[in-house]
Amino acid sequence: MKFFLDTANVDEIRQALDWGLCDGVTTNPSLIAKEGRDMKEAVLEICDLVGPERPVSAEVVATDYEGILKEAYERAAWAENIVVKIPLIAEGIKAMNKVTSEGIRVNATLIFSLPQALLAAKAGASYLSPFVGRHDDVGWDGMELVEQTATMLDAYDYFDAEIIVASVRGAWHVVQGCMMGAHIATVPFGTLGKLFNHPLTDQGLDKFLADYAKLQEELKG
Ligand code: G3P
Repeated sequence: MKFFLDTANVDEIRQALDWGLCDGVTTNPSLIAKEGRDMKEAVLEICDLVGPERPVSAEVVATDYEGILKEAYERAAWAENIVVKIPLIAEGIKAMNKVTSEGIRVNATLIFSLPQALLAAKAGASYLSPFVGRHDDVGWDGMELVEQTATMLDAYDYFDAEIIVASVRGAWHVVQGCMMGAHIATVPFGTLGKLFNHPLTDQGLDKFLADYAKLQEELKG
């Protein structure tokens, strides 16, 4: 399973890269707004930081077909690793069909149902992003949608999409996604740390180091 970082904060991305835990980055308009930066400037810095091999999702903010197309072409031209994020609305599906037929990679975002995932896959999206946390928030099981989407992709060889577990709220979403065969989890920085922190690891390490230090003292004496 690949880990994308769901952030527009370059310090977080730098740290995740340093840990070897960043296979790509997803942004959205809210994350860009949180940084208070111009979208193009922030996204270009991220593309430069992660290098051409790692995909970086940049979202359109237009909601009409012509506007989505215009922004999709603009964003795709920013850098070679840009993936254009397009929301699952009718105009978005229409735009996805057009731009994917021209070789632009799309991350279909704001997916909350299997029919939406199916339409995005049929429209040639490279990535399908079911929003599991927001789905859980309103009383549904977000991970069930991931499971169904994985089953759907397995059933048809001609779909070439990868599932991104998005709107991740904790390590359990990542773990469950992994068990269900999701290809990627896009993880907020705070959750990334929780994937490797464990109190028993810390306690175990403290004990190992204390025992070894005691041995050194005994050998000296
Ligand atoms: O990748 C989707 C994500 O950006 C939305 O997450 O935490 O705002 O529901 P969240």
